[in-house]
Amino acid sequence: MGKIKYGMIGCGNMARGHLGSINKIEDIDLVACADPFDGSIEEFRRENPNERTRYFSSHEELLEQDDIDAVVIATPNCTHAQIISDALAAGKHVLTEKPLGINHKQLSAIEDDVRKSDRIFQVGLECRYLPVFQRMSGMIESGRIGLPRMIWCKEFRGPFLEKVGNWIMFKEKSGGAFVDKMCHYFDLVTWFSRSIPRRVIALAGQDVVKDIYGVQPDIYDNGWVIIEYENNVRASLGLCMFCKASVDVEVGVIGDKAQMEGFFMDRRIKFRDYATGSVSDIDTRGSDPEIEKLSHRGGVFYEHLAFIDNIRDNKTPLTDFNVGKWSVLVSLAVEESAANNGMAITF
Ligand SMILES: NC(=O)c1ccc[n+]([C@@H]2O[C@H](COP(=O)([O-])OP(=O)(O)OC[C@H]3O[C@@H](n4cnc5c(N)ncnc54)[C@H](O)[C@@H]3O)[C@@H](O)[C@H]2O)c1
Repeated sequence: MGKIKYGMIGCGNMARGHLGSINKIEDIDLVACADPFDGSIEEFRRENPNERTRYFSSHEELLEQDDIDAVVIATPNCTHAQIISDALAAGKHVLTEKPLGINHKQLSAIEDDVRKSDRIFQVGLECRYLPVFQRMSGMIESGRIGLPRMIWCKEFRGPFLEKVGNWIMFKEKSGGAFVDKMCHYFDLVTWFSRSIPRRVIALAGQDVVKDIYGVQPDIYDNGWVIIEYENNVRASLGLCMFCKASVDVEVGVIGDKAQMEGFFMDRRIKFRDYATGSVSDIDTRGSDPEIEKLSHRGGVFYEHLAFIDNIRDNKTPLTDFNVGKWSVLVSLAVEESAANNGMAITF
């Protein structure tokens, strides 16, 4: 197999994030793109050095192209389920942006489509491919932490960036702020727990971001979540969408033998060993600073390397359907609990 021939479906912000990483990988040839919005195509075209790329105004036209091996889906959240179905039916390998879907009906439909297909299906939960979180997972696997007992995560940030049509500001199109943003971290804490969720409790509100980019959003802008896992690990996560300070995303784990806190932007881990009392500062920055300037600190670059490797060797992705499904199931439970004043949602 020569280069893997890609089609990009959706040419907005995130697609341009993918493009930066794709341009760095010799093994990928971006042969086609599709987006119904000319403005997105024009902006994408300006940043795409590949003169062979063909452009289409619908994903259906793109999927008719026989020379495409794999597609990247980077369209609004509410559209993923249909495009995944069409892409698998057309025999393409799929790397879809998170969240997989925005409701239970979509998740079931995607599950059927994935089960019927023999193509590689990978979900764009790029945090799992980042060295900082891979290292944390490795420390859990090796037993250095002991049994994980408590996990926490906080993302304190400003409002979502402006989108084409501002779909992200509306629950009907995005699934809600917890579905869109926190599915990454629900996935990370589930991965670190080495278990599956038992129940979820959430309190959230829309208190500050009520008028932005000329629209009135209907999504939460802050909240706290507690997840309890089958193995009694408990996790607490916080989201703020109106923080004006630059605060790093922090993910921490307390185990029987040690605790650790990892930082997304800083790419360092603070590790505290209980037996020796030692505190170490682990630097997970790689040798190539150019990679870490790419989308999501290089996470998107690493997920593409994994995707093409999975296609070549017919391997199950680290972020397969099941992983993507749990990240959405937790997100939907959080939205439901918050809408019902913190009612516990049991799986
Ligand atoms: N992994 C991450 O960390 C991360 C970060 C940001 C966004 N995302 C995800 O990427 C996706 C896109 O987000 P964005 O920020 O690029 O939004 P965007 O609004 O900037 O771009 C979306 C593009 O999709 C196009 N589109 C809509 N329907 C389409 C269809 N049927 N076929 C082809 N194109 C279509 C729109 O015209 C637009 O150009 C979302 O699912 C979002 O959740 C992921």
